[in-house]
Amino acid sequence: MSDVKRAERIQPAATSGGDTAYFAVHNLHAYYGESYIVQGVSFSIKEGEILALLGRNGAGKTSTLRALARVATPELRQGEVWLDHEPLHTMEAHQAARTGIGLVPEDRRIIQGLTVHENLQLAQIAPPVGWPIERLYELFPRLGERRSQEGTTLSGGEQQMLAVARALARDVKLLLLDEPYEGLAPVIVQEIERTLQEIKKLGMTTIIVEQNAVAALHLADRALILDMGQVVFDGTAKEVLDNAELRQEYLAI
Ligand SMILES: Nc1ncnc2c1ncn2[C@@H]1O[C@H](COP(=O)(O)OP(=O)(O)OP(=O)(O)O)[C@@H](O)[C@H]1O
Ligand SMILES: [Mg+2]
Repeated sequence: MSDVKRAERIQPAATSGGDTAYFAVHNLHAYYGESYIVQGVSFSIKEGEILALLGRNGAGKTSTLRALARVATPELRQGEVWLDHEPLHTMEAHQAARTGIGLVPEDRRIIQGLTVHENLQLAQIAPPVGWPIERLYELFPRLGERRSQEGTTLSGGEQQMLAVARALARDVKLLLLDEPYEGLAPVIVQEIERTLQEIKKLGMTTIIVEQNAVAALHLADRALILDMGQVVFDGTAKEVLDNAELRQEYLAI
């Protein structure tokens, strides 16, 4: 892709979503100490859309999700983050964490020594509470069947389901998924994909980071590709699937 064409694809959050942007990120800069990693990322998402956030290893995908969720590192030093008309960037991190961003980290963080049910109850110990646990069991029947089993003894796929369910147990407006398919057999990936489709039908807005770019693109409406901490493509998922050059250059698929 030529630089001109590439530049055309990059639209700042302030203009790409217009009035309909539900989640908008403008000129995000984040650092690990002096290490400058997220370098001016902008994008926006409409309510109910799924965005695939893609790019090579080390491109800055996890760092972007972490900066958006305002976890300890990387430090968000500049940028605007708007969720449902609320300016998250003006809030303290603990306050921003209560406004509806649910990060499902790559390592899933299931709490040792607690059952499936207790893991979900713990997520609801303080407000804002999201879906009732029984509703989560309807969405993830496998978790309902295993509600008394210790969470860390679940299979990889079941642990991923628990990690997503736990995020939804909070009052979440934006779900951030970091490599939800990692290490899972194709049949389990399909099962999780179906559940994510169902969650989308219920109106959830989602960002999915995945090494399995094809699977993420089939699920997503839109795609954002990062390279060295910067946005190099912002468009529809179909545009990426149809563009072999782009896929080869940034996704090696
Ligand atoms: N805690 C940290 N301290 C310093 N640098 C870090 C830290 N975590 C990540 N980085 C660096 O930030 C850059 C982006 O990393 P990040 O984990 O965001 O990439 P990624 O796109 O998620 O990659 P992958 O596909 O491998 O998960 C990398 O160069 C990485 O080495
Ligand atoms: Mg990562």
